[in-house]
Amino acid sequence: MSIIVTGGAGFIGANFVLSWAQSATEPIVNLDKLTYAGNPGNLVSLGTHPSYTFVRGDIGDRRLLAELLADHRPRAVLNFAAESHVDRSIYGPEDFIQTNVVGTFHLLEEVRSYWAALPEPQQRDFRFLHVSTDEVYGSLGPTDPAFRETTAYAPNSPYSASKAASDHLVRAYLHTYGVPTLTTNCSNNYGPYQFPEKLIPLMILNALSGKPLPVYGDGQNVRDWLFVGDHCAAIRVVLEKGRVGETYNIGGNSEQRNLDVVRTLCALLDELVPTSSYRPHEKLITYVKDRPGHDRRYAIDATKIRTELGWEPSETFASGLRKTVSWYLDNRAWCDNITSGSYRTWMDRNYENRGAA
Ligand code: NAD
Ligand code: DAU
Repeated sequence: MSIIVTGGAGFIGANFVLSWAQSATEPIVNLDKLTYAGNPGNLVSLGTHPSYTFVRGDIGDRRLLAELLADHRPRAVLNFAAESHVDRSIYGPEDFIQTNVVGTFHLLEEVRSYWAALPEPQQRDFRFLHVSTDEVYGSLGPTDPAFRETTAYAPNSPYSASKAASDHLVRAYLHTYGVPTLTTNCSNNYGPYQFPEKLIPLMILNALSGKPLPVYGDGQNVRDWLFVGDHCAAIRVVLEKGRVGETYNIGGNSEQRNLDVVRTLCALLDELVPTSSYRPHEKLITYVKDRPGHDRRYAIDATKIRTELGWEPSETFASGLRKTVSWYLDNRAWCDNITSGSYRTWMDRNYENRGAA
């Protein structure tokens, strides 16, 4: 038996592959296109691990998918691959439609024909697990209850709309064709190997080099943060114990305002880099023009996965954030490698001439 993951060279996928290779003997195959967000350096510690296979390719490449499924005969396919950054989806939505919608469709088609030809009991035991986001539920008001699995979809960005479309396709392949699917909708992740276009690693790297810390709007938007290792553990629990056809919300019960997150990061850096000439790092905070259509608040109600499957996060926001800052401090070569080249083009595009809040 084996499993295939897609997008395993990105942030969450790489954390998943690394923990799988450390703790399971079952082979894992990683199909990744290596876009700007896919980084083989995230997996370099695997070396020539006997249970790990990397294949460079697109989830929309039907011929490649058919070959991979026939060669590896997986018991499960986990779909992490996506275009994942909201700001990029505002500048250029097309890649999001291509990968998140059309790519997921092609993947589902190939999985369907592979699954339909499986003998029993492999057909019964097969799983397609789709990794999705809480952003499909839209934006909450300050006193609204947290997102449940039954909350109506109301995506507001091209990114979240493309993820919502992919979730609907997954649902349709279950109901129409009987493909045994599982969907997870998780809140904001943070931790090692996150590409520094996202809030937490961007603020850490900017602060370390004395650059402005660009807070969008009034900094009062709320996100519900989860350490990436806890997300990966939840996905494994859903894969092994989740009920076919169900969706599971995953979250850390850790709502924070953006400004508070940035201030906490600054305080951690003041403590962990006492020799920095940029202390106190808080003075680098700069309010910039808001993200268009910026969702005000996300919050996850994770009651279902806790009560049905027994999953709970092991990190608090304080412990996870400390681990994360330490990881970025200890892995400067990884950071330097990422922040050269095309990363600079993105930073210029999103932040130069953005204007004040
Ligand atoms: P990421 O952007 O860091 O990584 C995405 C990976 O997918 C990259 O390795 C990239 O090369 C690969 N990829 C992109 N297009 C591809 C294609 N067409 N074919 C094959 N590979 C392709 O993303 P992430 O933050 O690790 O997110 C992983 C998944 O989790 C996504 O589906 C995302 O929507 C979801 N998610 C992310 C978060 C978060 O906070 N980061 C939270 C909830 C859900
Ligand atoms: O909720 C899950 C989602 O979380 C995932 O589906 C997405 O893939 C992931 O990117 C993340 O989306 P967000 O838009 O919430 O994450 P981001 O890190 O881009 O921004 C977090 C908050 O910080 C958001 O309110 C915007 C704000 N922000 C972000 C950046 C990059 C800033 O204030 N300044 C910034 O420079």
